[in-house]
Amino acid sequence: MTTPTPDNLDERVTRSADHIRSRLGARQPRVAVLLGSGWGGLADQVREPIDWPYAELPAFPELQITGHAGLLRSGWIGPTEVLVLAGRKHVYEAGDASAMKGAVRTLARLGVQTLVQTNAAGSLDTALLPGQVMLISDHLNMTQMSPLLGERGDARFVGLTDAYDPRLRQQALAAAQALGRPLSEGVYAWMLGPQFETPAEIRMLQVLGARAVGMSTVPETILARHAGLRVLALSLVTNLGAGLSAESLSHAHTLHTAQQAAAGACQLLAAVVSCLSGPPLVVGVSGAA
Ligand code: HPA
Repeated sequence: MTTPTPDNLDERVTRSADHIRSRLGARQPRVAVLLGSGWGGLADQVREPIDWPYAELPAFPELQITGHAGLLRSGWIGPTEVLVLAGRKHVYEAGDASAMKGAVRTLARLGVQTLVQTNAAGSLDTALLPGQVMLISDHLNMTQMSPLLGERGDARFVGLTDAYDPRLRQQALAAAQALGRPLSEGVYAWMLGPQFETPAEIRMLQVLGARAVGMSTVPETILARHAGLRVLALSLVTNLGAGLSAESLSHAHTLHTAQQAAAGACQLLAAVVSCLSGPPLVVGVSGAA
């Protein structure tokens, strides 16, 4: 028997999954796409949409930040059946690293096997410019916060080697190449925010081997790996890190640059998601991927 969490998360996940299933009919999405700043346009590309505002889903978070709608959408992108999550709750809003726990668990409960994450990020590499997209190969959890605090059982000691699935990354790189769009890999550093970094912090992150910095994604990756989902993640570069260029940083600037680059980024994302269709993975078999 599992121990219920104090806030009845498991029950909220069950109610959310039941509510979603009641309208999914024969649909069986295996891929979920979490849209961060600048990536919202992908939701418009979903064919035959069925929508649930997060407010209808008790395991999903309440959102406040501008640029995040808080909508779950089922449908198709190319041949791939998807659940698109337009909007995430950031840890910097209330200091809760597990803000997206219920949403990720609901996806797992519905049989989703792959989580594609997107975000906006600052670049630490002057060759990776605003408007370009970076494929996340690994992360640095600079906050050292965990969305799994308070979890019980051995599963909480989740391994994060290859957290960003190598096979999915190969597929994404191939899809970008076929589209003729540049896509290169790098390490993403999660800083808590909401303040931007100092130039000294940016230099520290460069020394540590990060190529991009942002305020999201890592907790959801940890939650997804804990729930057994494979993860792929893309960063849309909206600026060079503090001190690397003359421009001053702001949320408005981030959103503005993201909007300008959105069409190209979403075209790339649609191509990546399209190449993820295929038969469901065999799960629960020793040695299975
Ligand atoms: N730092 C942190 N998060 C960000 C940045 C940045 O420079 N740009 C977009 N998100």
